[in-house]
Amino acid sequence: MDMRIEVKKALAGFFVTACVTGCAGREDMVPKLGEAPLKKVIAAMTLEEKAGLLVGDHEFDYYKDGSVKDEIPGIAGTTKAIPRLGIPVTYHTDGPAGVNISPRRDGTEQTYFCTAFPVATMLASSWNPELTRQIGAAIGDEAREYGCDIVLAPAINLHRNPLCGRNFEYYSEDPFLTGKTASAMISGIQSQGVGTSLKHFAANNQETFRRENNAIISQRALRELYLKGFEIAVREAHPWTIMSSYNLINGTYTSESRPLLTDILRDEWGFDGFVMTDWTRMIRNTAAQIHAGNELMMPGFQEQIDDIVASVRDGRLSESDLDLSVERMLKVIIRTPRFKRYEFSDKPDLASHAAITHAAANEGVILLRNEEGTLPLNGGSKVALFGMGSYDLFAGGVGSGEVNAEKVVNIDEGLTDEGISIDQDLKALYSSASGEIPISLEYASRKASDSDIALVTIRRTAGEYVDRRAIEGDFYLTQTEKDMLRNISEAFRSKGKKMVVVLNTGGVIETASWKGLADAIVLPWQPGVEGGHTIADILTGKVNPSGKLTMTWPVEYMDIPSSKNFPYDFEGNSWIKGPVRDAFDPGKRNIGFTMYEEGIWVGYRHFTTFGVPVSYPFGFGMSYTDFSYSSPSVKAGKNGSYTATVTVTNTGSRSGKEVVELYVAAPRGAMEKPLRELKGFAKTKELAPGESETLSISFTSYDLASFDEDSLEWVTDAGEYQALFASSVEDIRQSASFRVKRPQTKKVLVKL
Ligand code: BGC
Repeated sequence: MDMRIEVKKALAGFFVTACVTGCAGREDMVPKLGEAPLKKVIAAMTLEEKAGLLVGDHEFDYYKDGSVKDEIPGIAGTTKAIPRLGIPVTYHTDGPAGVNISPRRDGTEQTYFCTAFPVATMLASSWNPELTRQIGAAIGDEAREYGCDIVLAPAINLHRNPLCGRNFEYYSEDPFLTGKTASAMISGIQSQGVGTSLKHFAANNQETFRRENNAIISQRALRELYLKGFEIAVREAHPWTIMSSYNLINGTYTSESRPLLTDILRDEWGFDGFVMTDWTRMIRNTAAQIHAGNELMMPGFQEQIDDIVASVRDGRLSESDLDLSVERMLKVIIRTPRFKRYEFSDKPDLASHAAITHAAANEGVILLRNEEGTLPLNGGSKVALFGMGSYDLFAGGVGSGEVNAEKVVNIDEGLTDEGISIDQDLKALYSSASGEIPISLEYASRKASDSDIALVTIRRTAGEYVDRRAIEGDFYLTQTEKDMLRNISEAFRSKGKKMVVVLNTGGVIETASWKGLADAIVLPWQPGVEGGHTIADILTGKVNPSGKLTMTWPVEYMDIPSSKNFPYDFEGNSWIKGPVRDAFDPGKRNIGFTMYEEGIWVGYRHFTTFGVPVSYPFGFGMSYTDFSYSSPSVKAGKNGSYTATVTVTNTGSRSGKEVVELYVAAPRGAMEKPLRELKGFAKTKELAPGESETLSISFTSYDLASFDEDSLEWVTDAGEYQALFASSVEDIRQSASFRVKRPQTKKVLVKL
């Protein structure tokens, strides 16, 4: 065993023994958590116990009494127990796509598989918070039944750049959609009696050198974009905990920023839980972190305990700051299943969770292209299924957001289960392959002769630690993939047959150069364990697609405004020079620091305002039916509230659901503003042909405000606004105007 750990265990053992004999007093006189008032429990704690509670316990393999600690192998982290005060250990499992624990344990045949739910981007693509809430409830149930107390989810950093390796864990380029989806996820998970940790607070928008990168961001972009989703989720859904990010913002580590963690998070937004660090493997300024309002150090090192104790002793940290942190921790611990001695089963209902997964994934699939009604497939079609992803689907991404599922339904299986016949030679060919297979024109022509339609899956994965690259095989297609699409398209079209492309990806890829080769394009993202069934439902028309994009799909990578301020160029090098694998250098652009030079012009705010062409706009997604919008109106209510209504009618021949996006265009004021911004959305129920539904979307004048960084105020200009009822940011169907009579301002407490 590692000498360091040995020493720490000995020290920890000593500290517990010393406490129990030296300071506890008689067992029946010790105030117990949940029985005695909190203040009394805190007063009974030694300085070392308080410090220990604020430092995670994952470094130790064993409890002090010698029993094996890793009761839940694969768990991301735990807090420390103080048995004499009735304080239990609590367990923090990763998310956000499901519970992330090891599926097998020593000494038992029992398995501990978890449900891989659709990735976050896919859930947001459903624009259906109720479905996300149900997924959250299933995740919460699974976490609780596996003995966990807090799920390290949702993750809501913005899709500032399509190459961020963790975008699949995040929802959108838009903070409003992000905040609403996160609120639903938090409510769902917490409805099961377990907590959430909303992460990574804030501006963790690149993986490259994420632990040391200094994000340099204007106050306006911070408030309107990078903090906004957190603000909405904290105000609406009250997460039990928040995870501060690794990075710095404008020169200060987020975990050491009192303006961020106290003034903004608690005093402005009313957060009442505790903040934990991300899994910082190096020791930062622990006293500064606690003073800032970051209560828990994860995963936890003995040096941090020692540092807290020393800081109090030498006056760098006040005991009142320490006590406040302990109190915030205990207020959450008291709510956990462990504290309530919940008897978890280790047998969550994976079958019912698979069913929920399937339902949610069905609404998150996006139909990007459908020329001449290529889809749904005709009954009885024989499908030639190309591409590794058709037989080996990526259910999710990698890293801490990965989930150990027992089985993922592949596309070939999903189609077969729906009675669709697939080409068996192709299946045999791909089953023995390890990478994408070059497809020649002759081979594709043979397949075109004996099947009715081609289906080609392009797949991508990404994850924590590394960003994606704007090179072949990642943002751009590989030559093998381009040749495959061209040859199959040509072979099938020359016989009057069609080609459907399925995009099994967690992030955006280039589509503009090749989409003309496809007769239909379906985007099921990384759809979780039921992926093959979900995709088959959409392809066969059993389910009418109703998902819409939560980010812009650009024509070229360099069209994205942040591209020059992101780690990778086309060769995989940093924009400055030399491979990014070079040692960390704080003075190196995009490595040591990243300039958010694009300010608020992220995603559609940039493309729509400046008229830059895109491959697919934000909010875009097709259906097998058509919808018309009518009777738009906006009515002012009390206290600066507004209600927008519009009637949606299914004018096509199939039943389906439509997402209505409400954008607001502000009158010209002192500040430059995006042409339009998302301020609300609603989704219809399943509308039968000819059926209508009137949707209501509420917002307030505060939602319309822009942030003035000179006066540090949210400002809502007076004047005439346009409410735009849209099917995508570029497809406005109806509009109605409304007036804000008087300008309104709201001062904030600090700048970052
Ligand atoms: C990730 C977090 C995760 C934590 C625990 C970190 O590296 O950034 O998202 O929750 O590890 O696994």
